Amino acid sequence: CGGESTEDKELVIDTDAGTDTSVEHEGPTFPEVWGAPVLEDENPATDIVEVTLRAEEKTVTLADGLDVDMYTYNGSFPGPILQAQVGQTVIVHFENALPEETTVHWHGLRIPDEMDGNPRIQNPVQPGESFTYEFVVEDAASYWYHPHVRENEQIEKGLYGLFIVHGEDEPEFDRERFLTIDDILIDQNGDLPPFLQSHPEIMHGRSGNALLNNGSLDVVSFSVDQNDVERWRLVNPANARTMKLELEGASWRVIGTDGGLLPEPYETDRIVLPVGQRFDVEVVYDQPGTVTLNSMVLVRNDAGEIVEEAFPIYEAEVAASDAEPRTVELPEVTLPTAEPTRSETIEFDVGQDTFGNTVWMLNGKAHSNDPLFTFGYGEVVRIKLRNNAGPEHPFHLHGNFFTVVNDGRAWTNQPGLKDTVLVPGMDEVEIIAYFDNPGQWMAHCHILEHAKLGMMSEIIVEDPAE
Ligand code: C2O
Ligand code: CU
Ligand code: CU
Repeated sequence: CGGESTEDKELVIDTDAGTDTSVEHEGPTFPEVWGAPVLEDENPATDIVEVTLRAEEKTVTLADGLDVDMYTYNGSFPGPILQAQVGQTVIVHFENALPEETTVHWHGLRIPDEMDGNPRIQNPVQPGESFTYEFVVEDAASYWYHPHVRENEQIEKGLYGLFIVHGEDEPEFDRERFLTIDDILIDQNGDLPPFLQSHPEIMHGRSGNALLNNGSLDVVSFSVDQNDVERWRLVNPANARTMKLELEGASWRVIGTDGGLLPEPYETDRIVLPVGQRFDVEVVYDQPGTVTLNSMVLVRNDAGEIVEEAFPIYEAEVAASDAEPRTVELPEVTLPTAEPTRSETIEFDVGQDTFGNTVWMLNGKAHSNDPLFTFGYGEVVRIKLRNNAGPEHPFHLHGNFFTVVNDGRAWTNQPGLKDTVLVPGMDEVEIIAYFDNPGQWMAHCHILEHAKLGMMSEIIVEDPAE
């Protein structure tokens, strides 16, 4: 498909746009962040961040001698980092130079629904066309952006980037790093195999056969000094795989998640990072040597048994130094305390459509145009997420945050404001959602193939002005 016809297509996009964008401005200055290029603010006004983002095809080198035809934002994989401060207006001039339509979704941000990239609200941006996203950012946290049209293909092909909203009293680290924890499916020729429309790949989600670290199939390395303290912003943009992460050679603790910093940071041996979620961790290089971030993956050993193996994905060389150990001061954070006034349930099921094809369903419906619920503005709702069907599902709600009710089981011990939560197979998790952002919001499984097969619905939050 495509081939000649797309080559003939004239794109009405100025390829030089956004190349020389350095302007003087007195806005907030942001800490240096490592991991991908940072989008340059083209607007001198202190309360506006204005950038150009262009989706385009590009051949990307994923490893030595391995060039793969991907989709990128601004030619970069992962896409460039967008940074703003709480209260600033963000204007994104988005240009679509892909051979297919797309939108941009700002995963996790509480912004107006017509800016959220929902293709049921915003007409997808056609090849050669542009769209300007404009919104005010309200909550300091690590977010990410990605398309919301044919997500399973477009995200796997490389369309994603990090969006950092800084607070006014952010802790000061020696450095910040953006680490993507991804995987990709590559065939023997070094190409992305076709995206199947049916079983078995799409039934359980497309899992990769190679780990992909900030766009590289190799271990990504960097060097630091002993007693440096860093903030790592972790995101899992994979199609399906839940990542399990362990750090060797340094200490770390979780300081933030989807909706920002935590009231109480916590230590952990292992971070379980489902697709869509973010974790911010503080890493203290307390000794010289090598520090390794491992992705723990199930593999079959020579004896045919399934065992967990550690695959190094990021590596730091820590140089000995006389610097005194230091502690970074974290700001005080409080979470919403409002009690829920309503209880609802969302059931996750598998079924068949009238043609006998497998569908994944939320409350008995696949790809439903009827919203799951309509909530009043400001309503606080306790929602039971009940997984009746097979594997784990990372459930994601747009535009509004929730907290996870900790009932003492390991996977419910997830403090902080979230927009995505993993619901284990044949199990349930309860959340308390704070519906303070009016609009028509997508609610779906973030295993992109499950969303494609129907696990995709909406929740309406009434507008108090209407
Ligand atoms: Cu990460 Cu509906 O999105
Ligand atoms: Cu989202
Ligand atoms: Cu799912």
